[in-house]
Amino acid sequence: MQHSMMWKAQQMGALTFYTHDIRAYSTTAYRQVDDTPYGGGGGMIMKVDVLVRAIEAVRGDDTCPVILTSPQGRVFTHNVALELAQHPRLVLLCGHYEGVDERVRHFITDDISIGDYVLTGGELAAMVIIDAVVRQLDGVLGAEGGAANESHADGLLEHPHYTRPASFRGLDVPDVLQSGNHEAIAKWRRKQALARTWQHRPDLLRRAQLSEEDKYLLGEVARAAAEARRDGRQFF
Ligand code: ADE
Repeated sequence: MQHSMMWKAQQMGALTFYTHDIRAYSTTAYRQVDDTPYGGGGGMIMKVDVLVRAIEAVRGDDTCPVILTSPQGRVFTHNVALELAQHPRLVLLCGHYEGVDERVRHFITDDISIGDYVLTGGELAAMVIIDAVVRQLDGVLGAEGGAANESHADGLLEHPHYTRPASFRGLDVPDVLQSGNHEAIAKWRRKQALARTWQHRPDLLRRAQLSEEDKYLLGEVARAAAEARRDGRQFF
């Protein structure tokens, strides 16, 4: 939170960030926040009474989303980030240990997973969510085109980028990018974005809104890839 965009967002007043120690809401002498599971088995479960006390202390008003980070939640995507960026305040509750008492679900509004893998705790997931949401806030990304031009913003992966030197160990920047022909550059970038998405994330391509020109460019990509395959050349 002390670097780059997250720092800038705080400096410009777009983001205020608080951390709360859940142990502060425990009532036991040892500030216990977890206990053994009913029914036996290993691991520790976060206690519902402590979590609900914490939620109620920080939530502020009933319309504020309370999001539990857990591998069971709905998967975090660009669209979820856009949705969350509409709220003036969010509470992120970081799950830990083996899990949380199931009854806490009655006191949250959302359950979000950042991907199909299990983290030790929800803090890293919360940081990922905060970062992606804050980038969508007005003014945070500045003049360089802002969040609207990034990968995923239009349902595609981004085109490749290059900067000086124009040639490095035999690897050259594509001529078109040095041509000064803005129309040709825009078309090349769009085709590259389509090609990359086709190669790495065909699932995104199936859902993306494609123009007739996009479909034509994709046809060209597919034909060139098929030719390269036939000739035993590498295409991507
Ligand atoms: N906590 C543990 N694993 C997680 C995941 N994949 N996403 C969000 N929170 C988590």
